[in-house]
Amino acid sequence: MTPESLKIELQARVAHAVTPREAAVDVMKRLQAHYGWLTDEAVGETAELLGLSHLQVEELATFYEMIYRRPVGKRVIHVCDSISCWAMGGEPLMAHLAQHLGIAPGETTPDGLFTLLPCCCLGNCGEAPTMMIGERQYGRLDRETAGRILEAERESLLSATKEG
Ligand code: FES
Repeated sequence: MTPESLKIELQARVAHAVTPREAAVDVMKRLQAHYGWLTDEAVGETAELLGLSHLQVEELATFYEMIYRRPVGKRVIHVCDSISCWAMGGEPLMAHLAQHLGIAPGETTPDGLFTLLPCCCLGNCGEAPTMMIGERQYGRLDRETAGRILEAERESLLSATKEG
């Protein structure tokens, strides 16, 4: 998508919102998808589109866990560390994922495929422990299932890279 057509798409989203702030997360997520993370340039574009200051956009961006102000891998793995998931094995799950990927929480794999991050409740407490990869949520995880999911994600990313 060209920068111009992206701008037109985002202007339309803002125009349909009751207030520009209502469209803020949508706009930031769309720009994030375009750039790979919310770059300084994307913050500036968001500010311009919404009629907000850069600082106001920064405040919004840093409030939402799914908005990344630093470069991330192609897929971000969010592992819930809130109470239900913690009680159901969230900590060992995170340790297993970190070991499987060869990185610590907060880091990105050297091949740029995955970033591993802890996060607050994903609203899937009844199926704890939970993680989210991209837009997809996975619950009732154990080490084997989580490992299989990671490998399936890796396969799909690698085949998409080959096709692209
Ligand atoms: S505590 Fe993990 S999804 Fe709610």
